[in-house]
Amino acid sequence: MIIMAIESSCDETSVAIIKNGKEILSNIISSQIDIHAQYGGVVPEIASRQHILTINPILNEALKEANITKDEIDAIAVTYAPGLQGSLLVGITTAKTIAWLWNKPLIPVNHLEGHMYSVFLENDITPPMITLLVSGGHTEIINFKDYGKYELVGKTKDDAVGEAFDKVARLLGLPYPGGPYIDKCAKQGNKKAYNFPRAMKNTYDFSFSGLKTSVLYKIKDLNEQNIEIPVNDIAASFSQAVADTLVEKTIRAAKELSINNIVITGGVAANSFLRSEMEFCCKKNKFKLFLPSMKLCTDNAAMIGCAAYYKFIRDDYNKDWLNLEAVSRQPITSN
Ligand code: KG4
Ligand code: ZN
Repeated sequence: MIIMAIESSCDETSVAIIKNGKEILSNIISSQIDIHAQYGGVVPEIASRQHILTINPILNEALKEANITKDEIDAIAVTYAPGLQGSLLVGITTAKTIAWLWNKPLIPVNHLEGHMYSVFLENDITPPMITLLVSGGHTEIINFKDYGKYELVGKTKDDAVGEAFDKVARLLGLPYPGGPYIDKCAKQGNKKAYNFPRAMKNTYDFSFSGLKTSVLYKIKDLNEQNIEIPVNDIAASFSQAVADTLVEKTIRAAKELSINNIVITGGVAANSFLRSEMEFCCKKNKFKLFLPSMKLCTDNAAMIGCAAYYKFIRDDYNKDWLNLEAVSRQPITSN
């Protein structure tokens, strides 16, 4: 069973060829990060125009690297939600055109579902599991009960966690995207230098805007006193506050739902404070922790192809593909 998958929901154009939901024959990713960096964030109009320029060459590259022809492909998969409307439309239109031309079924995939399935590409793991999805656009704790059966346990009420990293980095004068820069500085700082807030303590939902404001006031305060900003200490204290919040809620959810497998995915899964805190707490509580490799944690089409495979073998997907539309906001729901 060979699936060609297309992902274009934000600022990465990606096409992958996946065999039997597991073997990655190719996973080509073209990132627009350098283009958007000069604006300090993703500019939607530029993103969709860039997808248009990139998608066809990437498609050919994916076929070439996988060393297969169109006749060997059994189905096309595409991300249809959530994401930037214009960006999603480029992927959807490409997928519809190929499906029609090559006479293949088209499997629509929710981007969050893709992130959740990325773990199956490298690990022998079966549901149930608790997935912590942390990226520039998402902060969710999901109970992955079974294939196609998910329950949203908690989500952010304001900023996504990656967004909070990027905004705090900007306050500290660090480049975009700021997460990796904060991480680097934080490793040299004192995580106990400042006691930043850990919000929404007794729920599974998140809020990062108060934490961000607290960093802003601390910087203002130090500026008024003409004290040089201790970037490393602020980065470390902020990172620890974020890691504590993400880990405490995820572990509490796993305990309450009696689930032993924990997965972290999304770009923020690269964060060293989050990784070490989660590793420590999983060991302490005898939970199994799965961290997909970074190439599969960040946006890529391989994860979409993997999710599509499980939908295809269960024959559980929307077949009215000619009417498939881009949906910018869509929570994770069971099929
Ligand atoms: O999943 P991703 O590549 O793209 C989407 O948002 O879909 O995630 C990007 C986010 C950015 O906000 C970036 O700052 C953050 O992940 N990030 C990190 C680290 N590496 C990337 N945040 C904290 N620590 C890191 N090491
Ligand atoms: Zn994503």
